[in-house]
Amino acid sequence: PQSDPLDPSDPQDPDYRLVPHRNFNLINGIHSPDEVDQIQNWEIQESDIFVVTYPKSGTIWMQQILTMIEAKGDVSRTTEHPNAHRVPWIELIGSEKLFNAAPSPRLRVTHLQYKFMPLAIKQKMGKVIYVARNPKDVLVSYYHFHKYATMLETPKDFNDFFEKFMDGKVYGNCWFEHIKTWYAKRDYMNFLYITYEEMIQDLHCMVERICSFLGKDLTEEQIDSVVEHSSFKSMKQNPQANYKTVPDSLLDQKKGTFMRKGTIGDWKNHFTVAQSEKFDRVFQEKMRDLPLNFVWDIN
Ligand code: A3P
Repeated sequence: PQSDPLDPSDPQDPDYRLVPHRNFNLINGIHSPDEVDQIQNWEIQESDIFVVTYPKSGTIWMQQILTMIEAKGDVSRTTEHPNAHRVPWIELIGSEKLFNAAPSPRLRVTHLQYKFMPLAIKQKMGKVIYVARNPKDVLVSYYHFHKYATMLETPKDFNDFFEKFMDGKVYGNCWFEHIKTWYAKRDYMNFLYITYEEMIQDLHCMVERICSFLGKDLTEEQIDSVVEHSSFKSMKQNPQANYKTVPDSLLDQKKGTFMRKGTIGDWKNHFTVAQSEKFDRVFQEKMRDLPLNFVWDIN
């Protein structure tokens, strides 16, 4: 059954925040199932760009990179408005109006599954950049995010969250399904697949790859500026690039921070051997037909 996203549900029920809709969990109060169902009919232009991620895979990072590329490295164009205004979410309530009224190029972001997307992108209109991250680090980052995201359930402990993630009982649902369904359809779209770990290892090279995919011709100096202002350190200091301006009703800034560690392999500080082995078994089984390699550790 569908619930009304604006209906104040019982706050005693720990799962009241997630609204199941067509085998996907939406978030109560900020998403509307009816509006999400309209997305497939959106009219798309060649110049539209969609960033797609499973949560905690480098979404905000790509929002910053894209806007810095569009600004040709001029950082002043990225310090006035938060990332979420520069590259808005398509699944948020009211997003269609904004989309229709926005000037080109329209930069957008989503955690939605492929099946909800505008039909036109599936006929090579617009461009899609899918950012993936090794899922053990995704799980850890998501665990910490749940501890301070007011709109999501606070995990009892790490193991509780580990099980929820493995069962897909989170926003974004099953990590394996997300990446598999998107990647399987890549040939239908103008599609760039890029990983968080590649960006950590050589951001300069990745910015060049993104520019080339988008047909943007930046000078070496402009690319250097994109890289500099998209680094973890710069973004941590720029309140418009790190969600510091988001109200406590969504993110309780006293309980955590968005720009947390920004590294590869933090899962090793959280997973037990048994959890890691279980994860590896599931990974091997679910990813058997999708031979994607991930970097699990920087050392
Ligand atoms: P950690 O919690 O592991 O630190 P998303 O934007 O998809 O929610 O992803 C958030 C994760 O990306 C966080 O991971 C955050 O620190 C990391 N991140 C954001 N900007 C980054 C950057 N410039 N460099 C490295 N990591 C970054």
